Amino acid sequence: MKKISLGDQVSICYEGETVLDALLRDNIDIPNSCRQGACQSCMARSLDVEPPAASQSGLKDVLRKQKHFLACLCYPEQDMAITLSQQPAFFTEGMVIDKKPLNQETLLLAVECKDPLDYHAGQFVNLKRADGLTRSYSIANSRAHDKKLTFHIRRLAGGRFSEWVHQELLVGDKIAVSDPQGLCYYLPNKPEQNMLLIGTGSGLAPLAGIIAEALQQGHTGDIYLFHGSREMDGLYWIEEMLELERQYPNFHYTPCVSRGDSPKGVAIGRANEVALSQLPNLKGWRVYLCGHPEMVNQTKRQAYLNGANLQDIYADAFHVASTSLD
Ligand SMILES: Cc1cc2nc3c(=O)[nH]c(=O)nc-3n(C[C@H](O)[C@H](O)[C@H](O)COP(=O)(O)OP(=O)(O)OC[C@H]3O[C@@H](n4cnc5c(N)ncnc54)[C@H](O)[C@@H]3O)c2cc1C
Ligand code: FES
Repeated sequence: MKKISLGDQVSICYEGETVLDALLRDNIDIPNSCRQGACQSCMARSLDVEPPAASQSGLKDVLRKQKHFLACLCYPEQDMAITLSQQPAFFTEGMVIDKKPLNQETLLLAVECKDPLDYHAGQFVNLKRADGLTRSYSIANSRAHDKKLTFHIRRLAGGRFSEWVHQELLVGDKIAVSDPQGLCYYLPNKPEQNMLLIGTGSGLAPLAGIIAEALQQGHTGDIYLFHGSREMDGLYWIEEMLELERQYPNFHYTPCVSRGDSPKGVAIGRANEVALSQLPNLKGWRVYLCGHPEMVNQTKRQAYLNGANLQDIYADAFHVASTSLD
């Protein structure tokens, strides 16, 4: 049992609990979303001891040195005094400028930010509504726009943020947009490198941004996209991707469904399995994996076994805090 002091408040962190668990149990209002160390929205700072190394995983060196840590990954090894007020995530004001369906469960949300954002295609931001509820969403456009960002937001039944976006958020409403984050992005440093991109559901969002950026930058290597869903109605942007395939001979697109019938041109099977059976040798390739955490983790291993260098595998698992009580 460890004591976590936050100002005058002391929370008790029991064996096997994270700092986030302890604070939420005491109704302390700490932003959080994925609870897996992915979104960085629960960042806090230690005022005394060094945070456990595992709780600083994925943070920039400068933040580590300042004893920032992720509360959802922090199993404290000793008593800690912490602060939430020094959180380095900056938010800019955004306004919804478009909202339209992509399929039955996913919509496209376009947000115009007040200040320009410096991001790489494929990164994500945290969107925050007025009551502080925050969730991560990947940027679905290329760097051609620094103020106008688009997102693909899938509605999860009972999901607080996604249901609100689908049902209540209107064009003209304000929403806060964080600094871009994440390491799953495109850099034009090796334009001749072949790229394999696999996404499920709204995991197409960051991949669409990466593909647009790569093609705009004149990427010459082959670019293979496999977009998967259980059924046909979970896919979207089929026409847009086919059009891109017609325009760019080095871009290849395979929609995949794992259940039911599929029309001509749509592969049957899970996107990752279809992709790796068609491309069994990934030596020298760059691989991007986005969407369902299980698919992402499985495929990361398999892509490595198929020859891809670990440093060339970029992944964003769309972790959902399934027991979110906030
Ligand atoms: C890096 C990253 C990028 C992402 N990018 C995208 C993206 O581009 N597009 C996208 O659509 N999503 C993306 N996500 C996922 C997104 O951040 C949200 O997690 C997702 O939209 C669900 O949020 P929510 O508030 O709607 O659901 P939550 O309220 O967090 O609930 C999640 C699920 O848990 C269930 N649930 C909630 N509370 C309880 C409870 N007490 N008991 C049992 N079940 C419960 C809900 O019914 C729901 O199904 C990304 C996630 C990460 C980490
Ligand atoms: S990183 Fe802790 S809640 Fe997402």
